[in-house]
Order: sequence, then structure tokens, then C-alpha cells
Amino acid sequence: MRSLSGIQPSGMLHLGNYFGALKQFVDLQDSYEGIYFVADYHSLTSQINPEMLRTKSMNIVMDYIAAGLDPKKSTIFLQSSIPLHTELMWILSNLTPMALLERGHAYKDKVAKGIKANVGLFNYPVLMAADILLYEPDFVPVGKDQKQHIEFTRDFAVKFNEFYGKEVFKLPEALILDNVATVIGTDGEKMSKSYGNTINIYAPEKIVKKQVMSIVTDSAGLEDSKNPDNNITKLYSLFADENEIKAMKEKFIAGNYGYGHAKKELLERILDYFKEQREKRFALENNLDYVKEVLRAGREAANKIAEAKMKEVRKTVGL
Ligand code: ADP
Ligand code: TRP
Repeated sequence: MRSLSGIQPSGMLHLGNYFGALKQFVDLQDSYEGIYFVADYHSLTSQINPEMLRTKSMNIVMDYIAAGLDPKKSTIFLQSSIPLHTELMWILSNLTPMALLERGHAYKDKVAKGIKANVGLFNYPVLMAADILLYEPDFVPVGKDQKQHIEFTRDFAVKFNEFYGKEVFKLPEALILDNVATVIGTDGEKMSKSYGNTINIYAPEKIVKKQVMSIVTDSAGLEDSKNPDNNITKLYSLFADENEIKAMKEKFIAGNYGYGHAKKELLERILDYFKEQREKRFALENNLDYVKEVLRAGREAANKIAEAKMKEVRKTVGL
């Protein structure tokens, strides 16, 4: 069984990325063959500065390894190191109705906000489908926001198979864990790089502290009884067991327990949970040769699979 996923190098890794996606990659790697890439082609849709893109792509690779993805068990590579992804995207786009892509969340949201979308963003789901279909994974572990993209991928695969009368593509399943489907940000909305409400797991301690301290609460005073289902307990739940969550909620209800206290407890839990990972992540920055070697080996392994699939696709469509 094979699992595949990608993360865009558009910013620093945050709790949402970790619990929504990356932790699953790591948990799955002993039971599934893992293929994980940095979706750098996808990041071009937001017209990122070239130097930033290069740096952020390397950062995500280091994040993957620090979080526990083992390059000996999983294939790790840069999406752009295998241009076959864009070749398959072109082929799939010819079977893709405009109307379907017009329903794409990312595109629709931009247009709704009055932002001019580029064709790359419009085609984003087709590239993502190509990323997936090239490698025939059984599962695609992602956060809930990617559900529609996996459904589109299945639609494209069915259309292709039907049109050419051949089972060329295997239908992937999304793997979305319910309890972490959406991690909230410091403002209570979905945590996202684009909303500036993140808690970054590999940022310097001072920054993590500042982010935790910025979690939005109401203005209840120290001695007041407080709503136990606030943004702090929601984030604390990611790190604590049932009894610990209950204990924090009871303290909030009882009063004389300030939001500042709770934030401190949360910060300690975050730093404790990610202690080893953070050390590993900082050490990797001084070992870029190792990171590059991981990418080289990853590209080689991934390219074998992708090239074999593309041969079949080209033959099927008459190229
Ligand atoms: P962002 O929204 O910060 O730009 P990405 O779109 O790059 O994050 O997401 C990378 C992965 O992390 C995806 O699988 C996505 O579903 C997951 N993810 C991102 N934010 C969250 C969140 N707040 N909760 C759960 N999963 C998330
Ligand atoms: N669109 C995904 C995101 O923003 C990243 C991604 C690109 C991806 N290609 C993929 C995820 C293929 C899973 C499989 O999070």
C-alpha cells in the first residue's frame, strides 16, 4: 500500500500543517510505502520571489525530516525535479471541463475577494491530480481543505479511464483525520500561512512564545469564571489527554485562572512536544549536503515510478 502527499513551500510549518498532514505522513511510514514531495510548482501560483521559493522549499524538506520522515523509509523529493508532473497536467487538462475548475475553492475564493486569478491557480487542481495519479497511491493524507482536490482527482481519473476505455489511473482515497481536520489559529479561525494566525513549530522560541501569547481571548478578569471552550483549550487539546483537558477546563470554570497562565501551560506543552524535532531541525540547517542527497535519491526513486506511468499514458493517448 502506498501513501502520497505534498506541502507547498509557501511559509513556515505550523501546527495546522503538522497535525493536519505531516504527522500522518510520519505515522503511516511504517505501514505504507511513503512518497512525499515539496509542491514548489504549486507555489508559483502565488508569484513567490525566486530566492524565497528556493529557501522555503529546502526548509520544507528539513521540516519533513525533522518531523520524523525517514528518508530510508520514504521517498522525499521536489515536485519540480520531476517535470513529468507538468506533462501529465497538460494531458489531463484536455479532458477537464472549465465548469469543473470554476468550482475549485482556491480559484473561487480569490475571484470572490475580487483578486485577479491567474491561469496557474485555475489549473491548480489539475496539477495536483497529476501529482497524485502518476504514483498510484492508495491514500493521500491531507487536511480537510484538500478534500475537494482529491475528489477532483478521482473525477479526472474516471474521465480519463472512460474516455480511453482503459484502467490507466487508480482512484486515490483522501485520508483525513476527523479530530485534527481543522486546527484553529491564534484568532480562532482556520490556522493558515495566509491568515497570519499561525504557531510555527520550528521558529525560534521567542517567536513561538509571542504567537502563543497572541491567542485571542475575551476580556474576562483573572478571578472570573471563563468559557472553558476557548481558543487556548482548543489548541491545548492537541497536546493533552482527556484528563488534562478536563482539568484545564475546570480551572477556567472555577475562576482565578487567567488566560496568561493557560497560555504559559500551552507554550510549555508545545516546546516539550517538539523538543527533539526542533533540535533536529536546527542541526539540519548545518547539514545541507545531507538534505540535498536525500532529494537526489528521492528524485531518482520517484522518477522511476512516474516515468513508467507516463510511458503508459503517452501510449494510451497516442503520443
Ligand atoms: P496553509 O493553509 O497554511 O497555506 P497549506 O495549504 O500549505 O497550508 O497546507 C499543507 C497541508 O497542511 C495540507 O494537507 C493542509 O490540508 C494541511 N493544513 C493546513 N492548515 C491546516 C489546518 N489549520 N488544520 C489542519 N490541516 C491543515
Ligand atoms: N494542494 C496541497 C496544499 O496546498 C499541496 C499539494 C500539491 C498536494 N500536490 C499535492 C497534497 C498532491 C497532496 C497530494 O496543501
